[in-house]
Amino acid sequence: MVTRPKLPRCIKAWISQRTTDMSLSAKQVGRLKPILFLLGLLPIVRWVWLGINDDLTANPVEFLTRSAGTWTLVCLLVTLSITPVRQVFQQPALVRLRRMCGLFAFFYCTLHMLAWSGWDQGFDLTDMLTDIAKRPFILVGMVAFLTMTALAITSNQFSMKRLGKRWQRLHQLVYLIGCLAILHYWWHKAGKHNFQEVSIYAGVLFLLLAWRFVRWGRQKFSPVPAVGNANKRAAVSASGNPDT
Ligand code: HEM
Repeated sequence: MVTRPKLPRCIKAWISQRTTDMSLSAKQVGRLKPILFLLGLLPIVRWVWLGINDDLTANPVEFLTRSAGTWTLVCLLVTLSITPVRQVFQQPALVRLRRMCGLFAFFYCTLHMLAWSGWDQGFDLTDMLTDIAKRPFILVGMVAFLTMTALAITSNQFSMKRLGKRWQRLHQLVYLIGCLAILHYWWHKAGKHNFQEVSIYAGVLFLLLAWRFVRWGRQKFSPVPAVGNANKRAAVSASGNPDT
């Protein structure tokens, strides 16, 4: 008869104990929110600083429009990376930061869109529609913005309760927004054959999507799905926010 060595089980129990001990509580993560909020405002502080010092480049309109677009993409990718980070580091409570990151993405996208409609198009609806029809990368950006608007509007407990299971499906559109954002950026840079930066963002998005895909495949084809679901349920009840 083969007896199982006891040490691995002890080590497993010890690791499990450690990771449980090191998990941030919902309260601790809640305390990080004001810091995250201030971090999210840093781009504005930078723009004001550059403006005061007359350092907004030779073309401030282009600089500010592009900068807002870049920050939209950064906030979007940070939002998408919260789930992998909480899974890798076993920090389910981090989900409490996701909403704020997503709303910052929406905030910068709104500024980016307003910069285009105000400075580029003079808020003229006919000119705006003509530009959307003429430049496909603007159309793609607009679709991303409108989809983001739907997510921002329903990003609250009331909508979550009202929409039930549909809420989760709706918020899975964040992956589509990520792809549209990259397509928009890629198309914008295609004219100048300058794909250096956009390739880095596309690479990050690809890794985040690949992570999701592998996890989804493992959960779907796992012989013991109950464990995954139990963990998921535990995370949801700890955060009050379903995983998307
Ligand atoms: C999720 C939504 C969006 C993201 C992530 C995004 C991101 C970006 C990025 C990263 C750039 C290039 C910045 C650079 O060259 O350094 C850009 C350019 C641009 N975007 Fe967006 N964008 C979005 C939506 C929109 C929308 C809704 C509009 C307007 C309807 C728009 C209009 C533009 C324009 C006009 C440019 C070119 C700016 C210039 O060259 O002066 N974008 N966007």
